[in-house]
Amino acid sequence: MADKEDQVKISALQLENVKRVRAVQLVPYRDGLTVIGGRNGQGKTSVLDAIAYALGGETFRPSQVQNSEGINQATIRVELDNGLVVTRTGKNCSLKITDPTGARSGQRLLDSFVEKLALDLPKFMQSSDREKASIILRTLGIEDRLADIDRREKAAYDRRRDAAVRLDLASKAAQAMPEYPDVPEQPVSMQELLDELAENDSRNAVIAQARQAIATANECIASNETSRSLILEQIEGLRQRIAALDEDDARQRQVIDLNSDAAGQEPSDGQDIRDRLAQAGEVNARVKANADKQAAMERAMELKDEHQRLDEQLETIREERRQLLASVNMPLEGLSVSDGELIYKGQRWDCMATSEQLVVAVSICHAVNPKCGFVLLDRLEAFDLSQLGKFDAWLKQHGLQAICTRVSTGDECTIVVEDGVVVKDEDEEIGGF
Ligand SMILES: Nc1ncnc2c1ncn2[C@@H]1O[C@H](COP(=O)(O)OP(=O)(O)O)[C@@H](O)[C@H]1O
Ligand SMILES: [Mg+2]
Repeated sequence: MADKEDQVKISALQLENVKRVRAVQLVPYRDGLTVIGGRNGQGKTSVLDAIAYALGGETFRPSQVQNSEGINQATIRVELDNGLVVTRTGKNCSLKITDPTGARSGQRLLDSFVEKLALDLPKFMQSSDREKASIILRTLGIEDRLADIDRREKAAYDRRRDAAVRLDLASKAAQAMPEYPDVPEQPVSMQELLDELAENDSRNAVIAQARQAIATANECIASNETSRSLILEQIEGLRQRIAALDEDDARQRQVIDLNSDAAGQEPSDGQDIRDRLAQAGEVNARVKANADKQAAMERAMELKDEHQRLDEQLETIREERRQLLASVNMPLEGLSVSDGELIYKGQRWDCMATSEQLVVAVSICHAVNPKCGFVLLDRLEAFDLSQLGKFDAWLKQHGLQAICTRVSTGDECTIVVEDGVVVKDEDEEIGGF
């Protein structure tokens, strides 16, 4: 709240022949509620209309200022506690403002401290939630920055939502893909298997050749033995031939030695290799399936990272808003702006109690022009006396003046108006709340 010294309030009011009013004088309380009571159609609202016209200028001019039954011309006189006296008199209700020194001035001087919202608070209260928030944000000077934050938040939110959808789809697709255990990581090489088979075949050929050679050599030895037997009978004569045959034996034994290693091995029919060859196609299809799944899982992980990043980005933007709102002084404790709407004690406008709406509206009105220390409030019937008392206490606590009307003739009324005149004037401090 502004320095109370700077605030201007209404210190006295005299009306004659204005709208329904014939003659009303009022000295409102400096702080708190001044209640203009009376039954319907007796001139209560006319009093407020007259004040609004006197202080707010032509936009507040009633269509018929002059009381239709009055003989004398309409006169409005409003005294302000900064010493100014504002009057409207004469046929045209022309404005005259005098200060204590007698100097004159015009509407522009009034405009510097009379807040239009204070003269027409219902206009504020009936404006949309966004307009209300906009007024307070403009007053605080953060409307554009907050709008920028809101825009960026929406964009970041949309991006994160898209990322979440993509992540979900990718994860589900990856999970649904087939996967095979007990399969090598790399595809089986057909060429290697063919090479292995060819190598096996050639080794078999070597074995067969070696065995054949041994068999042949053995046959030769047997044949030689036969021959030797025959030749023995002619020993002496054939010694030289026997020696030659011994030499031949030696040669054949060398052949046997040379081939015995290979001949000792067990030949293979290559069936195992042929089986693996036959399965290679299927195995490789599974190897490829595993590789595809791995790639899909990695893509899903990337999307998860992206989602996380966007999530943090959104939180950063929201934190920026919280800090911006925390950095400014709201006109009322518990008042804030969220998503472009006013929030008071956690409630939006339509969920606030009527008394809370009033407190919020009056606070904002005062924040818009802290020099304006008063507010006009028509039709406070919605309040019971205890609510009215609380509102009165709140106004006093904040050094604010409110002049209101209420369909009532009870003790809470400061004055009661009937047929355009004051019939009851409560001079004592209000005790009825
Ligand atoms: N210029 C006028 N002269 C005489 N009566 C008026 C004038 N303007 C409005 N009225 C009458 O005043 C009554 C409403 O006055 P108002 O101040 O609104 O009463 P309240 O607020 O006490 O219900 C209506 O009956 C209306 O016809
Ligand atoms: Mg009224």
